[in-house]
Amino acid sequence: MTPRFAATAVAHSNIALIKYWGKLPISGNYPAVPSLSLTLDALRTRTRVTFDSQYSQDEFELDGKRVLERPLQRVSSLLDAIRSLASLEYFAKVVSSNNFPTASGLASSASGFAALAVAATHAAGLNLEPAAISSLARACSASSARSIHGGWASLDAGADSANALDSGQNWDVVLIVAVTDPGPKAIGSTQAMIRCADTSPYFAAWVETAPVLFARACGALHHRDLDALGRCMEESTWRMHATMLTAVPAVVYISPITLAIINEIRSRRSASVPAYFTTDAGPHVKVLTMAEHAAAVRSWLTQIPGVTDTIICKPGPAAFVETPVTEGHTA
Ligand code: DP6
Repeated sequence: MTPRFAATAVAHSNIALIKYWGKLPISGNYPAVPSLSLTLDALRTRTRVTFDSQYSQDEFELDGKRVLERPLQRVSSLLDAIRSLASLEYFAKVVSSNNFPTASGLASSASGFAALAVAATHAAGLNLEPAAISSLARACSASSARSIHGGWASLDAGADSANALDSGQNWDVVLIVAVTDPGPKAIGSTQAMIRCADTSPYFAAWVETAPVLFARACGALHHRDLDALGRCMEESTWRMHATMLTAVPAVVYISPITLAIINEIRSRRSASVPAYFTTDAGPHVKVLTMAEHAAAVRSWLTQIPGVTDTIICKPGPAAFVETPVTEGHTA
């Protein structure tokens, strides 16, 4: 028998209402702007990490397929940080599955790196606070820092780790995902945001104005003012996409169906059925409303040609470990 340390963790995806888009011009993957998100119960990644003295390299399997190159390097960089903290020299096998389309703007890297950070730190025998795990995840993919927490979370500009703001259990909001095209995105968000920073004339304005919008959104969340929060979310969405559309070459994640959904929401919402949209690095649209209006809003969405699925998401839990800290541990 060989030394072996394993753990399985589950993390839920999060969608930013106030977007992280752009990095500080220093190493370490620090966000240039503050962001505010909701962790979602219906979208999750489950990841098993096994460190084993017999492995000769890291291996990464996602949804049943072996993954190489850049995604594997990103996984290995997080494992390296954890190996160094734990003084562990073994390579690892990482087996991960998403219950939603990967790399298509549904924040799979957020839940993915959060689940990996939790599983790998536990498998390595580290007993870290959520802030330390959030920091490890952030260094690989900043949005994943927020998925360590359940409910509402924020990540300040330049911050090491995300903040847990509210469990989300006392306010019945839902985010309804209108899935349009589950195909992978043309350009990853990391490259896209670097291109926006380097080439969009609007990027400086985006960074300069983000803190005020973030503060407005946090105030709206504090007062449970859905209308104010939803409007902040839409402003952040359009400003982020403005930097994308004005990058060279332009980064275009929105599709005609994305716009059709947005137009439908704008024309059908009312004081009695409030609904607000956002869209990220992919064509899907996420709609914020109250749980009592979820069925009505879903029926609007399902009637739009090109909407292939709708997923009603409530506030989700913090990332957690499914197995004991170590198992099959035989020296
Ligand atoms: C549009 O967290 O994927 O979803 O730090 O380079 O891995 P990296 O970027 P990533 O960017 C997410 C961007 C977004 C907005 C958000 O989640 O805040």
